[in-house]
Amino acid sequence: MAWWLTCSRLFLNWKTHYRPRTKVERSDKTRIMMEKIGVIGAGQMGTGIAHVCGLAGLDVALIDSNPDQLANALEIIDGNMGRQVARGRITADDHKNGLANIRTVGGLADLADCDFVIEAVSEDQDVKIGIYKELCPTLKPEAFIATNTSSISVTRLASATDRPEQFIGLHFMNPVPLMELVEIIRGIATVDETYQAAKSLAERLGKITTNAEDFPAFIVNRLLVPMINEAVYTLYEGVGNVEAIDTAMRLGANHPMGPLELADFIGLDICLSVMQVLFDGLADSKYRPCPLLVKYVEAGWLGQKTGRGFYDYSGDTPVPTR
Ligand SMILES: NC(=O)c1ccc[n+]([C@@H]2O[C@H](COP(=O)([O-])OP(=O)(O)OC[C@H]3O[C@@H](n4cnc5c(N)ncnc54)[C@H](O)[C@@H]3O)[C@@H](O)[C@H]2O)c1
Repeated sequence: MAWWLTCSRLFLNWKTHYRPRTKVERSDKTRIMMEKIGVIGAGQMGTGIAHVCGLAGLDVALIDSNPDQLANALEIIDGNMGRQVARGRITADDHKNGLANIRTVGGLADLADCDFVIEAVSEDQDVKIGIYKELCPTLKPEAFIATNTSSISVTRLASATDRPEQFIGLHFMNPVPLMELVEIIRGIATVDETYQAAKSLAERLGKITTNAEDFPAFIVNRLLVPMINEAVYTLYEGVGNVEAIDTAMRLGANHPMGPLELADFIGLDICLSVMQVLFDGLADSKYRPCPLLVKYVEAGWLGQKTGRGFYDYSGDTPVPTR
């Protein structure tokens, strides 16, 4: 009996003292307040994420390494909110207050007091990791970090930070103000507090969440981007031209956009990165990126954002290029 009591005490003692603890528990046992949001990357996605955070009444600091991109971001958000007012989705007051909640900042150190930082820079693992290395030493210890990656391992990205347990994937859809879904991806080390914080943030932004396991490209892009890649093969092999392929899928499969039009909208660089992650991560030749997609990216024809992709956007209406 005495032996059993000693063992139980030892076990309880071990549980109390050696249970893995997170920075969240160490630094703040009270409910985490989420009011200050940092958004890194003011491209298509970062701009949209800042937009919905501003409208939700959060204090948003937006940053980008490209000063021109950052300067344009507020103008784009202003225009997009204006369209929402015109459609009766938000009021003029929402527009004014939402925009006032967003400020642009010059360096990652300016995000030091953020409660939650969302990284939405280019789909490049090295670029993302470089940012975390610079961000983490100045970011307050209890802050959460989310990546908006479309495909890269959340576990791998988390391991480059000083807080893998407070790191998560929050995969917003494009365009962020319109699309309802956010995919949530936990890395292997992500703790429940982080998941709850991420889910409640997404819900505060009016989004519906779904959970995906940390596999290459998660759910949405595992299905969507290989379909786009196949559309590029269809073009490459001459099965149809750009217009035929997009019309076929719009009218024949009832897709709201044709796959090549959608690829231009997403960004061909992003589509190629997702295919490369699938090809490398699943080691299956069915994910081989189409050589034509590679060539377009090499040419800098990235779609709408550069003015040319499978369509030419220099005129009033997009013109198919093949
Ligand atoms: N485009 C989509 O449809 C879509 C959808 C969901 C998720 N995503 C993901 O969101 C992320 C961003 O995609 P996007 O479409 O907005 O790309 P984008 O090319 O429009 O914007 C990326 C931005 O990151 C900035 N940037 C690059 N390096 C930086 C650095 N070191 N510091 C600060 N800013 C830096 C660039 O200047 C650019 O403005 C990617 O991970 C992408 O996979 C994209």
